[in-house]
Amino acid sequence: MSRIDYLCPSLNLLQVVYNFNAGPSILPREVNEEASRAILDFNGTGLSILEIGHRTALFQEVVDEAMATVRELMRLDADHEVLFLHGGASTQFFQVPMNLLSEGATAAYLDCGVWGKKAIKEAKLFGNVDVVASSKDRNYTYIPKGFAIPAGAAYFHYTTNNTIEGTQMHAIPGTDVPLVADMSSDILSRVMDFNRFDLIYAGAQKNIGAAGVNLVVVRRDVLGKAARPLPSMMDYREHISAGSLLNTPPVFAIYVCMLTLRWLKQQGGIPAIEKINDRKAALLYDTLDSLPVFRPTVAKEDRSKMNVVFVMDDPDLEKAFLAACKANGMVGVKGHRSVGGFRVSLYNAMPLASVKVLTELMNDFAHTKA
Ligand SMILES: Cc1ncc(COP(=O)(O)O)c(C=O)c1O
Repeated sequence: MSRIDYLCPSLNLLQVVYNFNAGPSILPREVNEEASRAILDFNGTGLSILEIGHRTALFQEVVDEAMATVRELMRLDADHEVLFLHGGASTQFFQVPMNLLSEGATAAYLDCGVWGKKAIKEAKLFGNVDVVASSKDRNYTYIPKGFAIPAGAAYFHYTTNNTIEGTQMHAIPGTDVPLVADMSSDILSRVMDFNRFDLIYAGAQKNIGAAGVNLVVVRRDVLGKAARPLPSMMDYREHISAGSLLNTPPVFAIYVCMLTLRWLKQQGGIPAIEKINDRKAALLYDTLDSLPVFRPTVAKEDRSKMNVVFVMDDPDLEKAFLAACKANGMVGVKGHRSVGGFRVSLYNAMPLASVKVLTELMNDFAHTKA
């Protein structure tokens, strides 16, 4: 019997939900369990994690482990600093140029989607922006190739994975100018030479942990060169000197990051999770390619392994497939309003088994309803 017509009662009883949300998104079950225990009693202290001071030894241990695990997972060298900051990735859109771009100087940016465009808009408040290439002409469905990065640029900024459009840059661009990347939606998902970057930022709410905190990795040498006074909270150097505790940090969000990072380490780190991520993405794209009723929107060579975007040409079938997903406990599959169709997010915590369930549903749907 097909999955569409038959909803297993035990699934219903257990309320199995397959969370394909783009972010905030799925976290490992073990992390959620441990975090919920810590809300009632953090490490046997009788205190909730929500009640402990950020200057206590208890929390210092959490921050220390989170930072050390980032360092270890990303294999960072001693020149790079790890920070947990407030304000989401959107704050980095302006904090980066505030720190790295002097008035009158020029930064190079790649325009590959909604988030990159927002970063460009903010950078223009602080200096000149040279958009070296754009994929706007085809609704951001590909990554531009062969673009030149001017040697005199203060830095080159790009988004490694375009969460909304479902494109991903698979190689690090070759350049001698400082490299800055928004890795919000694919950080820690694949092996990369992270030391090639002068500054990396990522909102935590996809692959790092809970919403409310940003991971920033910055090479010390790149700081202190922009000629402008900075408010302390915007100055990376102040955060570095304060060990990322310049003011009250989002304690619980950092705690969940620490647990998620610890979980990733237990899985075998980035090389091990990358293998699973590759299998999940291959399974879903192969299914899409084999079923003409679904149409992936992105150029094959630029497909994201984190956010899989596809449409169906018949709006009634789109509605029916969305309803079939809902009936089978699959949430977060509706595409972003600017693209339409569907977007399935396959972040680190998404088990391969859940992707199998989705592809079974797709097969059933294509063969029985389309
Ligand atoms: C690639 C990318 N950059 C930036 C952002 C903005 O993040 P935040 O909401 O944390 O500001 C997002 C959010 O999804 C994103 O996917």
